[in-house]
Amino acid sequence: MAENERNITLPPPNFDSDYSIERALLNRRSVRRYSASALTLEELAQLLWACQGISKVENWQLGNKDMQTNYRTAPSAGALYPLEVYAMVNRVEGMEPGLYHYLPGPGTDKHSLEMVHTEDRSDDLADAALRQTFVTEAAANIVIGGVVGRMAVKYGRRARLYVVLEVGHAAQNLCLQAQSLNIGAVPIGAFVDEDVRRLIGEEVEPFYIITVGKIG
Ligand SMILES: Cc1cc2nc3c(=O)[nH]c(=O)nc-3n(C[C@H](O)[C@H](O)[C@H](O)COP(=O)(O)O)c2cc1C
Repeated sequence: MAENERNITLPPPNFDSDYSIERALLNRRSVRRYSASALTLEELAQLLWACQGISKVENWQLGNKDMQTNYRTAPSAGALYPLEVYAMVNRVEGMEPGLYHYLPGPGTDKHSLEMVHTEDRSDDLADAALRQTFVTEAAANIVIGGVVGRMAVKYGRRARLYVVLEVGHAAQNLCLQAQSLNIGAVPIGAFVDEDVRRLIGEEVEPFYIITVGKIG
């Protein structure tokens, strides 16, 4: 799957399964104990797509200008899409541990990860999350961050609220997808903002960490 050293083309997501949305809603629970098994790249790709992948590409015209909207799996106020998703990988088949940035496009079936670095910083993430040690035991930690400024252009003082609401949509998508794949997940809100921000990069504000791993 590796395209070059910095970019990993992800397997295309599945758009169908035998696991109903109702079963996922009924059975989803926060899981904090994980087996030592790695996630497959397909599983990680599916989780990321559920969180923030492209679900529809619409071409339209603004006057004589060609425009395109890439709708995502989670709703976004004004379709402004302020979220940035990172995967801090501990154990995913075919991947070096490290930090990766999710690139949802260019289409519903084409998405990728760009490598930020290949240092194992999961212990620092656990420190930032007030020593919730399952962070280091998980196969990966998905950090959902946002750029409030992208929303503020249109929504001014309501921008931060809208970003936080959108993070909730994306997080729930991920948790339900994890449930349907029999992958354990827990959303983590207890962390020191500045410490997580330092780990993912200064431009993006971290709002949520979702720890994922095979159920032990
Ligand atoms: C905003 C928010 C923050 C949370 N933060 C943490 C956390 O830091 N650590 C943790 O273990 N669980 C965290 N949780 C998970 C809750 O503890 C969990 O959802 C709750 O106990 C209900 O269990 P359930 O998810 O299995 O339904 C958080 C949940 C939410 C919604």
